[in-house]
Amino acid sequence: MLQAVRIVALMLVVLFGGLWAAAWLGRGEGEGPGESFGRLVASLFGGGMPAPSAGVQMPQGMALGGPFRLVDQSGKAVTEADFAGKFLLVYFGYTYCPDVCPTELGVMAHAMDALGEDAARVTPVFVSVDPERDTPEALADYVSRFHPRMIGLTGTPEQVAAAARAYRVYYAKVQRPEMTQYLMDHSSFTYLVGPDGRVRALFRPETAPEAMAAAVRGQLRGA
Ligand code: NI
Repeated sequence: MLQAVRIVALMLVVLFGGLWAAAWLGRGEGEGPGESFGRLVASLFGGGMPAPSAGVQMPQGMALGGPFRLVDQSGKAVTEADFAGKFLLVYFGYTYCPDVCPTELGVMAHAMDALGEDAARVTPVFVSVDPERDTPEALADYVSRFHPRMIGLTGTPEQVAAAARAYRVYYAKVQRPEMTQYLMDHSSFTYLVGPDGRVRALFRPETAPEAMAAAVRGQLRGA
């Protein structure tokens, strides 16, 4: 019996170690291991799905999202109740991000454009995982560069950590000796949140804007 437990434990260690190693080796340029790991898991997760939508549908019973307390780019305290009844496209990142965040927020903005009139039912949201530097003022300037209706959210480190936990977002500070400014390693999914505050679908990095828009439109029709 003990032997069997040991073997199973060993197999799990090998499996996760292998996944992490594959993620490490398969990293894109400038991509952290966390981002790469998330991408790999998402590709496994979405691998067996039919291809009509770019979004990975959330399996029944898997709850992501939910209550949060944050501060918006005008400095106003907000909770999930302020967004009740609305569809949201949500991305967690930070304004100092050199490449991944601007790319993904650009995708989100293009998906909003591709939605046409349906975009009125969707609010694009950027949540900072770097509250130390991402003040409401910094966010206001940043989000306005991507979409006129994009909302920026930040908060205390505890508030941000709680929101990230609810969405299973990974983030960590990375200080490289050759750089004066630290980086944030972070997972890089875009979430479609339904009017009930729960995640309906998630999009892996580098999803095509048109595919994202099509998946969002599918959810809007079903609502
Ligand atoms: Ni980023």
